[in-house]
Amino acid sequence: MFFPSVLMIIILTVAHIISREVPKDLEHIKVLRENGPLTEESLGIPFDTIGTLEIRLSKIEKLSRETLGQFKNLENLTISFSKIEKVDKDVFSNCCPKLKHLEINHWPDFNYEDLKGIATLPLESLEIIDSDIPKLKSGVFEGAKLKSLVLTKNKLNEIEPDAFKGLGELEYLLISNNKIKEIPKQSLAPLRSLETLELVSNGIEKFSTDSLPELPNLTDIVFIRENLKEINFEGVHKVAPKLNDVFVIGKNMVHIPKVSGPLRIHKWL
Ligand SMILES: *[C@@H]1O[C@H](CO)[C@@H](O)[C@H](O)[C@H]1NC(C)=O
Ligand SMILES: *[C@@H]1O[C@H](CO)[C@@H](O)[C@H](O)[C@H]1NC(C)=O
Repeated sequence: MFFPSVLMIIILTVAHIISREVPKDLEHIKVLRENGPLTEESLGIPFDTIGTLEIRLSKIEKLSRETLGQFKNLENLTISFSKIEKVDKDVFSNCCPKLKHLEINHWPDFNYEDLKGIATLPLESLEIIDSDIPKLKSGVFEGAKLKSLVLTKNKLNEIEPDAFKGLGELEYLLISNNKIKEIPKQSLAPLRSLETLELVSNGIEKFSTDSLPELPNLTDIVFIRENLKEINFEGVHKVAPKLNDVFVIGKNMVHIPKVSGPLRIHKWL
């Protein structure tokens, strides 16, 4: 009589531990207009049961790497229009073992140091909007496994030649509303999986076959409201054999010489 009930308790305990470690239904939590520190009490739920967390219009005090580390099952994190005070300089470093999608939109305290920590996460997509990142330094994303990278309105004016080093799995790159006149050819060279390159309102003036390193999987290039004067893609299939479509959208006095081969260039307002 004694033995089975002890066994039962052990089984229940083990089952409980397992179910605590991998909750079946992860929660989607929205933190809206909150003030104060981020705690399990303030959210009313254990951190490790949260799969998606959105923080919006909130003021969070003292966010630490340790706090983020408790979100063991977090897959999606969005922080927008919030003031979040960080305790650690590099708050994301190795914080969240399951984080796949991270979006940061207007978080004034977010800075370059945090970007480096982000490369330690198993992210598939990263979107940084409205932040102060004037320069992408060499190796800043090294170690990241990103498939999609979106950099919008970050006052970016320089991309160092090895800034995208290590992004061999990146399929989509969007750089928009920054201040870069040119993307160094060398910086694109590691992007062997890149399929779509999209450039929007950066002030890019020149782009040609010569701007591209060998990109075996590139199928589309999109220019929207750039300042292009001339684009010449003659011979592009030697470096980008799958490039089929180039879109040039927005007011442009651009001259586009005809090229031989199957490349289609679409130009409209
Ligand atoms: C993360 O976001 C994706 C896309 O919105 C969603 O399909 C997925 O279920 C989310 N994951 C979790 C654990 O909430
Ligand atoms: C290019 O794409 C193909 C098929 O879409 C894929 O199998 C291959 O791994 C990609 N190449 C690289 C270098 O990522």
